[in-house]
Amino acid sequence: MTSLLVLNGPNLNLLGQRQPEVYGHTTLSQIEEQCHQMAERLGITVAFGQSNHEGDLVDAIHNARGTYAGIVLNAGAYTHTSIALMDAISSTQIPVVELHLSNIHAREAYRHRSYIAPVAVGQICGFGPAGYSLAITALVGHLEDGT
Ligand code: DQA
Repeated sequence: MTSLLVLNGPNLNLLGQRQPEVYGHTTLSQIEEQCHQMAERLGITVAFGQSNHEGDLVDAIHNARGTYAGIVLNAGAYTHTSIALMDAISSTQIPVVELHLSNIHAREAYRHRSYIAPVAVGQICGFGPAGYSLAITALVGHLEDGT
């Protein structure tokens, strides 16, 4: 059975309390539950993780090799700064869908740059928590037929 990793970066553990006007009121555990429901519908499994530490995220990407067919990655602010995460994705060659709750392109200029985008299959942003289900569906489609 296909297994995907949904990986979350810094400050996303605070979803629900953190700037609700930007990120909404849904908590990360509620999002995790939604991901499991979507996985069940698609006949796959997902593992869900979060870390505030860049190196832990690099390790999680490395360790995904051989276990997960792909990663949905909300790298939080590391999206805009981390060559290490970009290199981890290139080095492992694991298909990654880049995800953001907010529309990073409609926000501050420093959020427009993504180090993940050039090494990702694609990017989903601006749909709030629903983006996780969209990203999982998109990644499964990509794994099945390369779209
Ligand atoms: C975010 C967008 C990033 O710019 C920000 O640093 C985050 C969350 C999002 O999901 O909208 O932490 O990745």
